[in-house]
Amino acid sequence: MKAYADSLSTRPLGLGCASLGNLYRAISDDLARETVEAAWDAGIRYFDTAPYYGLGLSERRLGDALRGRARANYRLSTKVGRLLDPDGRPDLPSERHGFHTSMPFSVRYDYSYDGIMRSHEASLQRLGLAGVDILLVHDIGRTTHGDGHAAHFRALAESGYRALDELRSAGDVSGIGLGVNEWEVCGEAMAIGQFDYFLLAGRYTLLEQEPLHGFLDDCAAHGAKIILGGAYNSGILATGTRRSPTPFYNYEPAPKSIIDRVVRIERLADTHGVTLAAAALQFPLAHPVIDIVIPGLGDPARVKQTIALHSERIPAQFWADMKAEGLIDPQAPVPWAVER
Ligand SMILES: NC(=O)c1ccc[n+]([C@@H]2O[C@H](COP(=O)([O-])OP(=O)(O)OC[C@H]3O[C@@H](n4cnc5c(N)ncnc54)[C@H](OP(=O)(O)O)[C@@H]3O)[C@@H](O)[C@H]2O)c1
Repeated sequence: MKAYADSLSTRPLGLGCASLGNLYRAISDDLARETVEAAWDAGIRYFDTAPYYGLGLSERRLGDALRGRARANYRLSTKVGRLLDPDGRPDLPSERHGFHTSMPFSVRYDYSYDGIMRSHEASLQRLGLAGVDILLVHDIGRTTHGDGHAAHFRALAESGYRALDELRSAGDVSGIGLGVNEWEVCGEAMAIGQFDYFLLAGRYTLLEQEPLHGFLDDCAAHGAKIILGGAYNSGILATGTRRSPTPFYNYEPAPKSIIDRVVRIERLADTHGVTLAAAALQFPLAHPVIDIVIPGLGDPARVKQTIALHSERIPAQFWADMKAEGLIDPQAPVPWAVER
């Protein structure tokens, strides 16, 4: 087995910064800065952003909040694969791709050598920082590109990977990987090069554990770690079904089958006095290949709440009952349990 990539942080919690790009709702510049500061004060030292998040807005805000802090004290990932082209149309909608943003750009996919190099340089300019630690190839795969996937993957395999590898070899970045919502494409990627991290969103959660059977072992053999995005499956595992009139699952209103399953988990959690979001946050971290979980948080109070959820003590019997009731895979590692 190869050595794993470095752990991103001593604390297995990072900040997912799609929220700083006004995903779903606009937040002010001040709130964005306060969110990053609250995360920093809570000991969070890994931040994930992307050009796509608010069409440059998240990178600008994150860079503004981090600038001046010693680069050795934190890790930062951004993404490549989407270039932001100037778009001067006067009638740009205020909401695009789910982001409430006035940034005058539109996105163009480019997974080639030149596209990746340009994207990296443009990110540094937007961030206003001298470097990023990790570059992740954003949303390559069939989920985003459908039949167009083969052509985009060919661009990555034939030239884009070389750009990433050169940046890593030159020490411009310390790690490379993919940032995706599907695990299958990570398997394809392992066949074309050596990747350090896969940011996998929403596919290893309390609601789904398919990667347990093959993929996570393949990552271990490859030496790659998982950065787990979407631990709440974009909302429902944090809000539950009772407080939120329209719980979100995979960035859309949750279907009935998912709501029904979460209702069963909520009932079991109630029996054990467990907070649903705490179980969702802690569950993936029990797997040795999962390095860090990066919930999407858009205000300081959420950051504080998240730290508490991460420390909540969950009794071993809760996990045993989750397995007994068929609510999680019987082979899934579960968090080290402390009886109350
Ligand atoms: N392809 C990729 O590379 C990819 C894809 C997806 C995600 N990601 C990364 O992963 C990060 C997290 O993913 P995500 O934001 O999509 O999904 P997520 O963390 O599963 O869910 C975020 C949602 O959960 C809500 N939430 C969080 N904590 C809560 C709490 N304690 N109580 C109630 N609601 C709570 C937030 O609501 P509020 O807005 O109300 O706080 C937010 O809408 C992203 O920011 C991004 O960095 C990467």
